[in-house]
Amino acid sequence: LINIGLLGLGTVGSGVYKIMKKNHENIKAKVGTKVEIKKILVRDKKKKRNLDINNKLITEDPAEIINNQEIDLIVELIGGENPAHKYIIEALKNKKSVVTANKLVIAKYGNEILNLAEKNGVQISYEGSVAGGIPIVRPLKESLAANRIKEITGILNGTTNYILTKMTEEKKEFADVLETAQNKGYAESDPSSDIDGLDAAYKICILSSLAFETLIDVKSIYVEGIRNISREDIEIADELGYVIKLIAIGKQGKDGLDIRVHPSFVPKNHPLALVNNVYNAVYIHGDAVGDVMSHGKGAGQMPTGSAVVADIIQAARNINYKNGNNYFVSARQDYKIKNIVEVKNKFYLRIKVNDKPGVMANLAKVLGDNKVSLASVLQKNRLKPVVPLVLVTHPVKEKYLNKSLEELKSLEDVIEISSKIRVEGDNE
Ligand code: NAP
Ligand code: HSE
Repeated sequence: LINIGLLGLGTVGSGVYKIMKKNHENIKAKVGTKVEIKKILVRDKKKKRNLDINNKLITEDPAEIINNQEIDLIVELIGGENPAHKYIIEALKNKKSVVTANKLVIAKYGNEILNLAEKNGVQISYEGSVAGGIPIVRPLKESLAANRIKEITGILNGTTNYILTKMTEEKKEFADVLETAQNKGYAESDPSSDIDGLDAAYKICILSSLAFETLIDVKSIYVEGIRNISREDIEIADELGYVIKLIAIGKQGKDGLDIRVHPSFVPKNHPLALVNNVYNAVYIHGDAVGDVMSHGKGAGQMPTGSAVVADIIQAARNINYKNGNNYFVSARQDYKIKNIVEVKNKFYLRIKVNDKPGVMANLAKVLGDNKVSLASVLQKNRLKPVVPLVLVTHPVKEKYLNKSLEELKSLEDVIEISSKIRVEGDNE
């Protein structure tokens, strides 16, 4: 018998409980022995839960689980930094294996946690921390181990992909769609982590650390969220043959690692443009395998529960068969993380100008003087005396673009730079 202590019974914790109950025979056969949830930690025991559960299992005292000699495996599904980090460390010190879906804790403290697990001869697994139900952590560590990974690009946040899809397809307002994403259990307890891109940054940090066998400080990742994406930009993107997606990128180049999260114009015929609603997708390029792409639900109770229970089964089987064969990817490489201003991209720009002769010529001169060449120019809905100009550039280093935008702001007829959005997957 393997006993589990569950920390958290929210969206994902409830999913794990349901799957463990429904598929218990199947799980027993895979592990080679019975697996039982012995105790569950919650914040509020009195909370009404829509679950068929014996209340005796539930506690508000973490010590009843973390210091419990009968518990072999701790599953952390509380979320956030603390006390989740503290409980994981205590559990590992008590020689209990740990499964978690906490991307923040793994991205920030992964090295400390992995070293502690290795030192104590126990396991740490975190498949549910990246891209919900899509198997990606273990495939990257194990199934693609023969490769040197060159690039990971993906849509790694379900909440923002859901919001952008509904704003695009149903012309809904940001705030209304965010509320639905929260009600569906996709968003973090503080949804600004999703909206401002941090959640995706934690995930690309975890994947890039594994892929490039290095330690990545999450603070070194350039992050921009979707808060400033307007309906106007979504509509112009559509007219120009693009959709707007929150893209996470980890690329290895000669001059360092290019790791970033930001909204991007993606051509409508690009595979990532077809990933909608709560779905995520991860594209990987390995030097032996070539291109691999995985697609599935990136958030939600049952998809994430699927990833967490798979980790439970593997950890429980290893405990049952006394298999200490836990594979830790060592951080043996040291890379420089490229500053975003050194990265070359195409850009979409929306600039509000006075509708006067000669304005476009002045604008083009400033851009040209700064090595920014234009792929297309469009004048939108003339509302004399002001007109929004839409420009798409050829690939250019961001520092040159930024310098030209600073100069443009000082031109008398430029009223505002309304939007600057990078274009991915279309580098002609
Ligand atoms: P959630 O619905 O907010 O559930 C959190 C659970 O933890 C609740 O049961 C809560 O107790 C308990 N809890 C919170 N703080 C606690 C504390 N200080 N002490 C004891 N218990 C505490 O969160 P979730 O959406 O399930 O997410 C859990 C983790 O999975 C997070 O790390 C999240 O990033 C990750 N994740 C979530 C998803 C998703 O789709 N939601 C997908 C992938 C990964 P009460 O029930 O009493 O309030
Ligand atoms: N809040 C996260 C998302 C949950 O929306 O992608 C899955 O990690």
